[in-house]
Amino acid sequence: MSASSPLGRGIELAERGVLPDLAVRVGIRRLLAERLRAEARGSPDDQEERKQALLADAARSPIAVAQAAANAQHYEVPPEFFRVVLGPRLKYSAAYFPPGVRTLADAEEAMLALSTERALIQDGMRVLELGCGWGSLSLYLLERFRSLRVTAVSNSAPQRLAIEQRARQLGVSDRLEVLTRDVTDFEPQARFDRVVSVEMLEHVRNHAELLQRIAGWLASDGRLFVHVFCHRSFAYPFESEGEDNWMGQHFFTGGMMPSFDYLALQQRDLVLERRWAVGGEHYARTARWWLANLDAKRVAAARALGLALPPREVERALGRWRIFFLACEELFGHRGGSEWHVGHYRFAPRGER
Ligand SMILES: C[S@@+](CC[C@H](N)C(=O)[O-])C[C@H]1O[C@@H](n2cnc3c(N)ncnc32)[C@H](O)[C@@H]1O
Repeated sequence: MSASSPLGRGIELAERGVLPDLAVRVGIRRLLAERLRAEARGSPDDQEERKQALLADAARSPIAVAQAAANAQHYEVPPEFFRVVLGPRLKYSAAYFPPGVRTLADAEEAMLALSTERALIQDGMRVLELGCGWGSLSLYLLERFRSLRVTAVSNSAPQRLAIEQRARQLGVSDRLEVLTRDVTDFEPQARFDRVVSVEMLEHVRNHAELLQRIAGWLASDGRLFVHVFCHRSFAYPFESEGEDNWMGQHFFTGGMMPSFDYLALQQRDLVLERRWAVGGEHYARTARWWLANLDAKRVAAARALGLALPPREVERALGRWRIFFLACEELFGHRGGSEWHVGHYRFAPRGER
């Protein structure tokens, strides 16, 4: 990104905290409108050809790319930072605000309950969580169901340590195994009644291959439940180069925006049983809470980031996190939450149903 272009200068000022939030929001809205115009170019045939080309390219890709960058950008940031900005369950994904739910704490619970219900999870099951973050869903399930067992996987050692510590406090360690593994070379030793994954598949490039592997990890009557953020019709990778790709450079290197139908287009041994859309306004409210928490506890957030960064970089990092949360709120809130939103999917092994 050239700091001498108007956009580059604007971003520089925003990261330093010099621009008012309203100006940053206006800039983000302009970029979102440009993104929609670019993705909508041509006829429906052209758009479909581009999606098919992306799928063909993905099928030739490794399962994931640039994992080290994603780890540096989010997942190996000290867990103390996420304890400051997230809700009490440390859910680093969309929460859910049905009528009557007003706080982030309650909205985290509401989304965890909704995901559990849609995944048809019951007590006694063996559950594998891929991309477990700081344990929001795994620990929720272990607390709620007294005979359920969980294997939680992520590629971040700090996440594993944070989950293990919390599991000891909750007295659920004996039913939990936490593994630090890259999903691209993970091979479980057991079969599972449920495989669940919440906002990890946006870091995956070759979904067809991963879904195919997961099919082999499920019991014959098992189910895969997936939660991703998505656009209602367009799928695109986050590029890490170019003027308007701040997100791809600093927060989503190697990541992608799936379309709502993206996973459904890649069914082989797993068949889509049901899908649901959760309006983007829920994610917009979640991101607004994360920003409010960051602003309310700025000193604690700076101290947490300072555990991993030299002092002169902490202010800039805080500025970037602020822009990231503002961008998430604007993206998912765009047009009332009807463009970018969350997709829930339940897949069953082919032939089982
Ligand atoms: C956005 S976070 C979501 C965390 C958690 N599911 C939640 O809802 O709070 C994405 C998670 O996927 C993990 N992840 C991303 N790429 C991965 C990979 N290649 N292998 C294993 N885990 C990965 C990250 O470490 C993180 O735990």
